[in-house]
This record gives sequence, structure tokens and C-alpha cells, in this order.
Amino acid sequence: MSFPTKHYLLIGDCTKATEILNLPAIDLLVTSPPYFNAPFDYDELFENYEAFLHMMNKFADLYFKALKPGGIIGLNIDDMLIKSVKYPIISDTIKIFFNTGYILRGKIVWRKPEGYIRISRRSGVLLQNPYPMYYYPDNLLENILIFQKPSPLKLTKDEINSYQDIWEITNVLPLKGRLETNIAAFPDELPSKLIKIFTQKGAWICDPFLGSGTTMKVARQLKRNSIGVEILEELIPVIREKSGFSIKNLDNFFDSDPISDDILQLEKIRIKSNNQREKTNYSFLPQALNEYKPINNYNYHLLVLNCRNIPNTALNEKFSKLIDNLFPGRILAVMHDSLDNSVSNLSLNKLTDHVMKHGLRLRDKITIQHQPEAQWEVISQFKSKIVFDHCFYEVLLFQKGKFNYKSKSKQEKEDCAIDKEKFQQEKWYLTLWDFRDRSREECDSIVLTRLLELFLFNNEVVGTNIEDISCPKRQFTTKYSNLI
Ligand SMILES: C[S@@+](CC[C@H](N)C(=O)[O-])C[C@H]1O[C@@H](n2cnc3c(N)ncnc32)[C@H](O)[C@@H]1O
Repeated sequence: MSFPTKHYLLIGDCTKATEILNLPAIDLLVTSPPYFNAPFDYDELFENYEAFLHMMNKFADLYFKALKPGGIIGLNIDDMLIKSVKYPIISDTIKIFFNTGYILRGKIVWRKPEGYIRISRRSGVLLQNPYPMYYYPDNLLENILIFQKPSPLKLTKDEINSYQDIWEITNVLPLKGRLETNIAAFPDELPSKLIKIFTQKGAWICDPFLGSGTTMKVARQLKRNSIGVEILEELIPVIREKSGFSIKNLDNFFDSDPISDDILQLEKIRIKSNNQREKTNYSFLPQALNEYKPINNYNYHLLVLNCRNIPNTALNEKFSKLIDNLFPGRILAVMHDSLDNSVSNLSLNKLTDHVMKHGLRLRDKITIQHQPEAQWEVISQFKSKIVFDHCFYEVLLFQKGKFNYKSKSKQEKEDCAIDKEKFQQEKWYLTLWDFRDRSREECDSIVLTRLLELFLFNNEVVGTNIEDISCPKRQFTTKYSNLI
């Protein structure tokens, strides 16, 4: 049956595209902004990290106005490792969106197949030096943050749909000869799932960082209207071809679609630009990167803190003292749950800011996949309830400056050798530790043991708020500290 849809393509900077406010209000925004200076894709695109966050702030602001009340954003984004510095993009983005007025509903983890990892394999460092502190996992994950513009939406349908919050989707490799060459495109499945979950036919979908046009293509296939914004004019032919608006595709692109109707309605709107830039500080990262100012008395060689279900108020002087007393070069491992973002619980951005203020920086993040144990939900614009089974928590690894690998003798290292076979077989080397059939409690004890093996030498001290820490492979002392 014919179901004509409308599609607008705006060419220019999406953060200045106020023209969008004259178009229909948006039900769902699905997008993947350029990751801050990502190697391969966006080398040196931004002058510095602040400039990137400034763009995110302008983006959050304008599209808040363009969204319908109750409208949703599915933001595909990730922390970025550039020249040995990990930029806490997720935490800083949450802060920006939160300050703009959005509600963070939850987070979906996108897991890619192992064979599709594009970045260099860092885990080889441990295979060459199978000792504590040499752990650098290979990342095969990205995140999709789910924000909602507040509204007094009331549930009017009984309908409840449920999904898991870890998605396994194969990524697009920007191989030569592909339409997406040189564009970090996401796979069709990503916008497709979000559009099907959060909207109905006829909804308005927007992608302000349109790239090759994946969101527009999928929206059109699914009988939704779309608005795309792209800064690079030279991508127009790619977008047209991908989303089926090129003459070349007329014969067979979408068999049953009334293409001619749509073609007439693909409008190209040129954005008038205005250039102004305010000065703001969005992140504590610069502080974290500055020379760490040593104190005299250190107690802990490793801190392992369970910060799930603790309130923001736990970030107090006691917490500060703990991290101040961590030896330089060493690791603070924090177990954190993205679901704990309700007003009273510890939020990722507050935690990250607090830790970074003390001179630590993000080193890595491990996602622990467990059996579904809790749920989070969104009431959509279309008045139905969408429930996500929650299947993971995260271990954030912060580090205080650099570890001096020469500070340990050969013998001290050999005494703590890590079993390389087990490391490979059990896939410790990935940023996702997959215990999908186990409960949280079962995961916790395995995770703790692994952390001690990976970051502790013999006869050292662990500071923790977790009772019953054990690791048969290490001799250590625990100093228990209740956080609340
Ligand atoms: C990660 S890519 C998006 C890829 C897209 N999801 C796809 O599947 O092809 C980001 C895109 O945003 C564009 N871009 C960067 N800054 C922009 C801005 N300020 N306004 C609009 N587009 C921008 C880049 O040119 C790039 O095409």
C-alpha cells in the first residue's frame, strides 16, 4: 500500500541549523556525531577537546527545541583513545545533555563481532609482558545513550515491548569501493532497531550528522519521514544514492515504495551560518592530565570500589582521601551501573568529575555482561511502554599518572605471572567480559579476582568497600572502607 513520506536534507553545520525549527517536530533523533578526533576517521577535526564538547553542547541545545516533548535521542557515542589519552566522552556528554534538560533513560551496549575490531590490538602488550599493570583490552563496544525530552506523557496503551540492552550488530567496515568509503557509517540495523522500537509509521526521524544517509534510508524503508543534516556537501550524491533518491535506483531500490512521490519531496535546504563561540569548561580532563601533585603517605596499591547503588553524596572527603592515598601510577577500579542514574544514585558524570579532579584519568572500561537482572523503561511518544532487560554493569579503570614499569624487579614480576592461555581462552583481553548466563553475584567474584590478578603484585595493599575479596594467585592485605 502506498505510504508517501517526506525527507529533508539540510546542508551545513547542524548545530547552527535553526531552520530545523520550521520543520515538523522530531519524534526520534538517531545519530552518531564525529567522535572527537578519532584516529582514521576524524584526525585533528577539532582544535581541542573543549571545541568538541562545545559542539556537543550546541547540538544538545538546538535539538532539545526541535524534539517533541517526550521525543527520544539515540546517541551512538563512545570514549575515545587518542595518543594514549582516553577522553571521557560518554561521561562529559551525559553531563552536557543533563544540563540541557534531557533525562537519561538508559544505555544500550553495541557489541561488534571480534573479527571486526578496527583499532590496533592493545592486548598484545600483556601477552608480551604477562604481569600485573600491563593490561590494555581490545575494544569491541560502542554505546547508545538514550535521552528523552521531558513531558507529562501518560500511558494509554497496555502494550509492553521488551528488549535486552546489549545488541550484537556487525559494523560497517569502510572498505574501498563501498558507498561509505571514508565515512564512519553505522550499520542499517542500528537506526532500524531504534526506529522500530521507539516510533510508528509516519513519525519524524532526524539525523543531524547524516554521513552517508543510513538513517534516512532506513527511515524511508520503514515508512517514517526524515530530516538529515550533513556538513559535507560532497556527500549529497552518496546520500541520494543510499536512500534511494537517485535516478539510478529508480527501477528496483524499494519495490513497493512510491518513489516518485518521495523524490519530489526531498528538499535541500542550505543552512545560513553564524559564527560565534563562547568560552566554557566542560571537562576535568585537562586537570587530570596535568602533573599529579604527590603527597607523602600512600596506602593503597589498588582501589576496588563497588559504586553501584551508592548515592552521589558518597563523593565526599572520605572518598577523596581514599583516592589521594592511592600510590602514583596505580589503578582505581570502580564498579558502576548506568542504571543508577536516578536522581539519588551515583551518576557516571559526577563520579568521573570527582575522580578526575584528584588527578586520575580514565584508562579503560570493561563491560560485564550478566544474565538479565533488572529493567529500565521508557514511555514512548506513542504511549506504549518499552522495557529493557538490563544485562550489564561496568568497571571503570582510572589511573593516577603513569606506572613506572621498572619499579618492580624481574623476580617480583615473575612471581605474579599471568596465565596467558587462560587470558586468551577466557577472553580477558576484550572490553566485554561475557558471563551472560551468570548472576551478578557470580560475576562479581570472578571480576574481583581478575582485577587483583591484573593490577596487583604480591604483598601489596588493596583498599576496598567490598567484603570477601579473594584471589588465590596473590598475597595481599585488604583495608576495608565503607563508602557511606
Ligand atoms: C560518524 S559520521 C555519521 C555516519 C552516519 N551515521 C552513516 O551511517 O553514514 C558523522 C558525520 O557528521 C558530519 N558532520 C561533522 N560535523 C558536522 C556538523 N557540525 N554538522 C553536520 N554534520 C557534521 C561528518 O561530515 C560525518 O559525515
